[in-house]
Amino acid sequence: MEFKGFRAVNNVALQVERGTIHALIGPNGAGKTTCFNLLTKFLIPTAGTIRYKDKDITGLKPADVARLGLVRSFQISAVFPHFTVMENVRIALQRRRHGDSFDFWRPEKALRVLNAEALELVEAVGLSDYAEIPAVELSYGRKRALEIATTLALDPEMLLLDEPMAGMGHEDVDRTAELIRRVGKDRTILMVEHNLSVVASLSDRITVLARGQVLAEGDYATVSKDPRVVEAYIGSGHA
Ligand SMILES: Nc1ncnc2c1ncn2[C@@H]1O[C@H](COP(=O)(O)OP(=O)(O)OP(=O)(O)O)[C@@H](O)[C@H]1O
Ligand SMILES: [Mg+2]
Repeated sequence: MEFKGFRAVNNVALQVERGTIHALIGPNGAGKTTCFNLLTKFLIPTAGTIRYKDKDITGLKPADVARLGLVRSFQISAVFPHFTVMENVRIALQRRRHGDSFDFWRPEKALRVLNAEALELVEAVGLSDYAEIPAVELSYGRKRALEIATTLALDPEMLLLDEPMAGMGHEDVDRTAELIRRVGKDRTILMVEHNLSVVASLSDRITVLARGQVLAEGDYATVSKDPRVVEAYIGSGHA
């Protein structure tokens, strides 16, 4: 990916296995977010191709990619601040069924099913005690949990999370890590995360980027021992 001649991401061959939690790490400015934007089609690569489930998705629009099951968390999780947790999740579920049109006049039974599904998702992200609270009153960490719930409402096969723990306190980090682990049991997750202990405990595989290129790849034990990785982190003041 080139920005006016500057190569932010150069020849990155990133392969994410179905069903794994894959972390993308590296010092600031390494190109992680650019990779993300390429995968979710917010950016069109100046060269190269992007494949998802053996399909070339390089030319597709973000909404088309999302429809294929590859979803970035903030992309669709428009959380309505003054609606309750349950209402937010219900709206997200309705969007899955009807695209962007809302269908308020639903038969009683359909509504009951929708409610049951919403409740299940709210429980799944640990927000049962907050179901009737307006989103705006949630702590930062719980707001992210609600975002994950509204993302899950779309039933994505693959989830992309850009720094899901950024700005969180310890307790929220632990709870969110647990949530990602649970969500990742039957889905594929690619996450960018600076918190290396979270990365160590969650990831099946890690790709380390530096200056737009892959520096190392493997499990945490392998990449954390790699002298080039240590060097890159020390050089950036991250270690
Ligand atoms: N739209 C843009 N125009 C010009 N340069 C850009 C643009 N987006 C990113 N860059 C540059 O590309 C490089 C990679 O940026 P990117 O945001 O992908 O890094 P990152 O690994 O996500 O960093 P961080 O850890 O700080 O989030 C940086 O040097 C950045 O300044
Ligand atoms: Mg970034």
